[in-house]
Amino acid sequence: MSKKQVSRRQFLNYTLTGVGGFMAAGMLAPMVRFAIDPVLKPSASGEMHPVVEVSKITNTPQRFEWEVKQQDAWYESMVQKSAWVYVDKNDEIVALSPICTHLGCVVDWSSNEQYPDQFYCPCHGGRYTKDGVNVPGTPPTAPLPIYEHKVEEDMLYLGRAHDRGGGV
Ligand code: FES
Repeated sequence: MSKKQVSRRQFLNYTLTGVGGFMAAGMLAPMVRFAIDPVLKPSASGEMHPVVEVSKITNTPQRFEWEVKQQDAWYESMVQKSAWVYVDKNDEIVALSPICTHLGCVVDWSSNEQYPDQFYCPCHGGRYTKDGVNVPGTPPTAPLPIYEHKVEEDMLYLGRAHDRGGGV
């Protein structure tokens, strides 16, 4: 037998290894896909959600709530969101996060009778003016985040809340 000839045993080895590898790849591919599928799904964080009819929005901030589906890898849950929404003096809709930028309590509009035209945080007395800017000398050092919004057919849609930076 010359050196280049393949023995019967080698031929069988190559063939069985090849077929076995092919079958293993066929079984593994769906398993790998299943394992990483949720990670590959596009995030829903950029979605806009219907929140309230525009005709119900007034000059006084009102708190509206809605739910969004949240996917954490394989775990899907509904998360409650909320915003303080009003129309400002330029007829623009403003939607502010109600989460205090100090330590995360929920702020109320006009709940402190000493400051009726401000958002007030009951946890440590944080205050914000109507446009969500923190009042100097109170614990928060940044404004309330503001939601992306759009209006379609008398419905207000809200997206992500963005930090505005530049606190006072
Ligand atoms: S959490 Fe709002 S003032 Fe501290």
